[in-house]
Amino acid sequence: MKILITGGAGFIGSNFIFYMRETHPDYELVCLDKLTYAGNLETLAAVMDKPKFTFIRADIAGRDAIYGIFETEKPDVVVNFAAESHVDRSIENPSIFLQTNVLGTQVLLDACRRYGVRRYHQVSTDEVYGDLPLDRPDLFFTEQTPLHTSSPYSASKASADLLCNAYQRTYGVPITISRCSNNYGPYQFPEKLIPLMIANALADKPLPVYGEGLNVRDWLYVEDHCAAIDLILEKGKAGQVYNIGGRNEMKNIDIVKLICKALDKPESLITYVTDRKGHDMRYAIDPAFIHRELGWLPETKFADGIQKTIRWYLDNKSWWEKIVSGEYQNYYERMYGNR
Ligand code: NAD
Ligand code: DAU
Repeated sequence: MKILITGGAGFIGSNFIFYMRETHPDYELVCLDKLTYAGNLETLAAVMDKPKFTFIRADIAGRDAIYGIFETEKPDVVVNFAAESHVDRSIENPSIFLQTNVLGTQVLLDACRRYGVRRYHQVSTDEVYGDLPLDRPDLFFTEQTPLHTSSPYSASKASADLLCNAYQRTYGVPITISRCSNNYGPYQFPEKLIPLMIANALADKPLPVYGEGLNVRDWLYVEDHCAAIDLILEKGKAGQVYNIGGRNEMKNIDIVKLICKALDKPESLITYVTDRKGHDMRYAIDPAFIHRELGWLPETKFADGIQKTIRWYLDNKSWWEKIVSGEYQNYYERMYGNR
């Protein structure tokens, strides 16, 4: 079995590579990544020279290069993690989100059509469903919830999902889609809430909470997401969407306070800043379908996962300190300087 993993130098893709090498040591894994600001070869250092692992630098939207890779590598399965993934960046500049997330997906689908694969798996997001109101805790996203996007990021991810459905129905490409809630864990780029708050707190810098901090996200430890995708590859049905979520809703402000407490930092570092434009209020996945069909359940309790994550950032300062001392400084100034 040979799996082409796109976006494998990013947060979830790299964790998926580690998970799959551990769980299926006989599989051959080919990681394809453009190495944007979010891709980091240091993350893959432990597997780089190992047997049954290949790294190829390429852009999923580059048709000729992608066709060439399919021709030489002949993957049985493709798992597409490659994407521009940060909502705030999509608000600042949507174009690259359409280029990579929509047109890049189209190129991969065309390659699958042309060369044939056993499965193409699209890693999507719960953000395609829009948001839920705070005063209706009884409501959850199911696979039947209509797509209703808010940000250029979520619109690009929903567009890619629709393309996947079209290629399944029109050309018979065997596709599965998973829509997961917010992930956290090792190797997450420090532009996202949890690693950003850990990095800032450790530097005694302000902790920028958008709006009133009351927005709710459904947090899932990244390894649980990887396990779900593995199950979908093994037992999932082509043409099916699977929602993946942690049943672990938390307000942003509670997460930030928890990080302060764990790092023994004062809550006075918390600074309320101008809200994100179009900010989704609440995400909450009902994972009943994947549980019933494939037997998947999240295994990591948030209390344990967040401690493991904080420990990882403490033990791997060189990984993220290099990031936050480089081009990230300009990003940070643009995003938070005048907020
Ligand atoms: P990330 O930003 O950490 O990593 C993205 C990776 O894709 C990087 O390595 C980057 O170099 C690569 N990439 C970007 N553009 C590329 C291109 N044109 N060609 C090839 N490679 C390219 O993202 P992540 O958080 O690991 O998310 C991975 C996937 O999971 C995305 O599709 C995202 O939409 C989805 N997702 C993320 C979350 C989450 O909480 N982070 C939750 C649900 C779904
Ligand atoms: O739900 C899945 C999605 O989760 C994925 O599809 C996205 O790729 C991923 O980035 C994530 O999107 P969010 O926008 O929910 O994640 P983020 O970490 O950017 O923000 C989480 C919440 O924290 C959100 O309500 C905004 C808030 N926030 C974020 C940052 C970076 C702050 O209050 N302050 C911040 O500085």
